[in-house]
Amino acid sequence: MFITLEGVDGAGKSSHLGWLETWFKARGRRVRMTREPGGTPVGEKLRELVLHEAMHAETEALIMFAARREHIEQVIRPALADGEVVISDRFTDASFAYQCGGRGLPEARLAELENWVHADLQPDITLLFDLAPEIAALRMATTRAPDRFEREKSDFHNRVRAAYLRRAEQFPGRIRVIDGSCELDQVRRQLATVLESLA
Ligand code: TYD
Repeated sequence: MFITLEGVDGAGKSSHLGWLETWFKARGRRVRMTREPGGTPVGEKLRELVLHEAMHAETEALIMFAARREHIEQVIRPALADGEVVISDRFTDASFAYQCGGRGLPEARLAELENWVHADLQPDITLLFDLAPEIAALRMATTRAPDRFEREKSDFHNRVRAAYLRRAEQFPGRIRVIDGSCELDQVRRQLATVLESLA
């Protein structure tokens, strides 16, 4: 099973990664936790670049997919073949949300890259943590130094959120929207409902 987590920066997905891992392990599954951009030695170097160096929006998109190409080959496919549950903190929906929604690249361009890099692979389920970017920004303000994406203006994050929600409408079977505005235990309850529906 291939599971991805998505959402605007600060929507809370990171707080639930460990909980998700434990949920599957408690049910006897082996779990592979990973992330994008990153997840491999090459991917982590590309992550450093793309999170901190200014660059053209298309360069950014190409780097995301270059890192993804490596990630799929080195981590995702082998782990799935081995029967593991793969949980990735972000995947291609993030490229549609950030590079198309946020930066304004045409979706057709990204669809070409998606088709090139993983025509025959999609997550089985995507948990989309949805939260107003203004609230997400408040939550993040005290926790860490912002990267290039987190420093973008609120317009950018509103476009990212809208693009994610459009994806959820487009793929209602795969993408489950989690209301990230509630308390932690209520978010967990929503997650448990989704996970139980998979079993
Ligand atoms: P994020 O999961 O937010 O890392 P952290 O929690 O450590 O800050 O991911 C880093 C950023 O990368 C995030 O702002 C979204 C961006 N991103 C894209 O713009 N496109 C992509 O395809 C991916 C995978 C991530």
